[in-house]
Amino acid sequence: MKWIKNGSFRGAVCCAALLLTGLALVASEKTDMLEQGRYVAVMMGCNDCHTPNYLMREGNVPEKLWLTGSAFGWRGSWGTTYPTNLRNRLSQMTEDKWVAFAKNLKARPPMPWFNLNQMKERDLRAFYRYVRHLGAAGSEAPAYVPPSAEPHPPYATFPPPPPAQ
Ligand code: HEC
Repeated sequence: MKWIKNGSFRGAVCCAALLLTGLALVASEKTDMLEQGRYVAVMMGCNDCHTPNYLMREGNVPEKLWLTGSAFGWRGSWGTTYPTNLRNRLSQMTEDKWVAFAKNLKARPPMPWFNLNQMKERDLRAFYRYVRHLGAAGSEAPAYVPPSAEPHPPYATFPPPPPAQ
C-alpha cells in the first residue's frame, strides 16, 4: 500500500488529528464552563429565589424555568421586592458588562448582593454563559413596591432588620 507511506497523506492525517484534538478541547472547555455555571446557580442559591416555586418544591422545577424570576414578594421595611428574571436580564448585557455589574451591584433585601460582589470572575463568567445558554424566557417579575403601598399577593412579611452590631 504505497499511498500510506506517502508523506503528505501522513501529514494530513496528523493535521486532522491535531485539529480534532483542538476542537475537542474547545468543546470540553465550553461544557466545563456551562457545568460550572449551573453548579454556581445551585450552590449559591440563586434558584432559591430567582426560580418560581424552587424552594417550596425542594428544587424539583424543570431546568427550562430556572432563573426566570418570581412573582413571590419579599415584604419588609424596604417595601416589597420580587426576584428579577435573570434569563431576560442577562440577555440584555454582554459578558463583560455582567462581570462589572455583578461586582458592583447593590440591591434591596433579601438579595445577597454582598456575596455576589465577591464571586470570582471565572464563576461570574461561567454563570453568565450558563444563563445565556438557557436563553431569554418568561415574563418580567412584578415591579418593586414601596413600603407605603400594598403589594400583590403572594408575599412573605419580614420583621425589621436588627440594629447594627
Ligand atoms: C434570598 C433571595 C435571593 C437570592 C438567594 C438571590 N437573589 Fe438575586 N435578587 C433577589 C431579589 C428579591 C432581587 C430584587 C431586589 C430589588 O428589587 O432591589 C434580586 C435582584 C438581583 C439582581 C439585580 C437585577 C437588576 O437588574 O437590578 C441580580 C443581578 C441578582 N439578583 C442575581 C442573583 C444571583 C446571581 C444570585 C445567586 C448568586 C442571586 N441573585 C441570589 C433575591 C435573591
